[in-house]
Amino acid sequence: MAKRESFGSRAAVIMAMAGTAIGLGNFWRFPYMVGEYGGALFILIYIFCAFLMSLPIFFAESVIGRRTRANAIGAMKKLAPHSFWQVLGWLSVLTPTIIVSYYSIVGGWSVQYFAESFGLRFGEFDPDGWTALGFNVIFLALSCMIVAFGVNAGIEKFSKLSIPLLFCLIVIIAIYSLNMPGAKEGVQYLVKPDLSKFNGRMVASALGQSFYSLSLGMGIIITYSSYVSKEEDIVSSGVGTAVADTLFAILAGFAIMPAVFAAGIEPSAGPGLIFQTLPHVFSAMAPSASWVGSAIAALFFLSVIVAAMTSSVSLIEVGVAFLVEELKISRSLACLLTSFIVLVLGLASVFSSKIFGLVDAFSSNVLLTFGALLAVLFVGWKMKREDVQDELTNGGTANRRSFKVIYFLLRYIAPIAIIVIFVSNFI
Ligand code: PHE
Repeated sequence: MAKRESFGSRAAVIMAMAGTAIGLGNFWRFPYMVGEYGGALFILIYIFCAFLMSLPIFFAESVIGRRTRANAIGAMKKLAPHSFWQVLGWLSVLTPTIIVSYYSIVGGWSVQYFAESFGLRFGEFDPDGWTALGFNVIFLALSCMIVAFGVNAGIEKFSKLSIPLLFCLIVIIAIYSLNMPGAKEGVQYLVKPDLSKFNGRMVASALGQSFYSLSLGMGIIITYSSYVSKEEDIVSSGVGTAVADTLFAILAGFAIMPAVFAAGIEPSAGPGLIFQTLPHVFSAMAPSASWVGSAIAALFFLSVIVAAMTSSVSLIEVGVAFLVEELKISRSLACLLTSFIVLVLGLASVFSSKIFGLVDAFSSNVLLTFGALLAVLFVGWKMKREDVQDELTNGGTANRRSFKVIYFLLRYIAPIAIIVIFVSNFI
């Protein structure tokens, strides 16, 4: 078998990890939550949750991946052969495969809206099954092609191109949006701290969002970390990833909300925000200078496509790594097989928004949290402390002081955080 690939540099690690982290959640959930839960205060609490609660979960998954340098199932076979912990491996491959089946449908919608932005003929947001399926196939095929090129020539190269591009696009859109007449109200919505909104529910939402945004609980960080070389400091690259992800979410807020308020529309969350509200915003600006409206709409949907694609690539890679390493089939065949399975799994979701919602709810509320809980319990309580220390300090050469804090957070705080997310999902 060919030699196992590794990411080429620290920048490559952070770009690939930021690629999975920055996704639809940054566009359609974070900006809305900031406004709903009290502006700047929510941003502060989000940062607190992301770095002190979700990042330790990220480190737990990184330890599993980098320690074994294997796909998620192979990793658990190496670390805890013939034990209950195999469940973690299997779950880590199953969950992303289910999630990508509907994530790629949304990716397909953004391709459709990108195409429509050239004529600014946005229909009502009611994607009909066959059209959605067509665009889903296009989106999935593109994502699989990137994965088929491999870790260096595919994932790494694509991420190194797309992450800087995404930041440029979102800054351009934010500048444009902030200069629209009436944008001020949108800025207020995002920054005005409203202390009365502080409550348990708000903290749980910030925590849940940071967890989802870092792509935890689905084998992705295990798999991507297995491509991180032994010399790389996984703590620093994890921090870099969380910084990039948080920064992008805040920028997305400043790109979206001022425009929404300028157009006099009530903000919402979820697909409605980017596929229903924003097209109105863009068409509303169109009459004065229609090409500007089209251009901004096209740039915006381009950034949604790219952000969704770097995430779907990571979801697909988890299954592909498993097929290539455990079943010893070629990468291209593994990609074909995975996309076929994903497409079939997604068929019901394409045609029924009810099933779409159910699959989304079950995988995000149950599978993800269960997977993450197993990962932190395994690394925090089952693995030997010396082994965890060895990974997180690179054999004692880095993070020697912070290790104690990280280990404490990982053992005690991370499991509690996951239970809070799980419970709050059902309230
Ligand atoms: N982290 C991504 C986001 O914030 C979400 C995601 C979920 C990515 C699942 C990959 C897999 O949008």
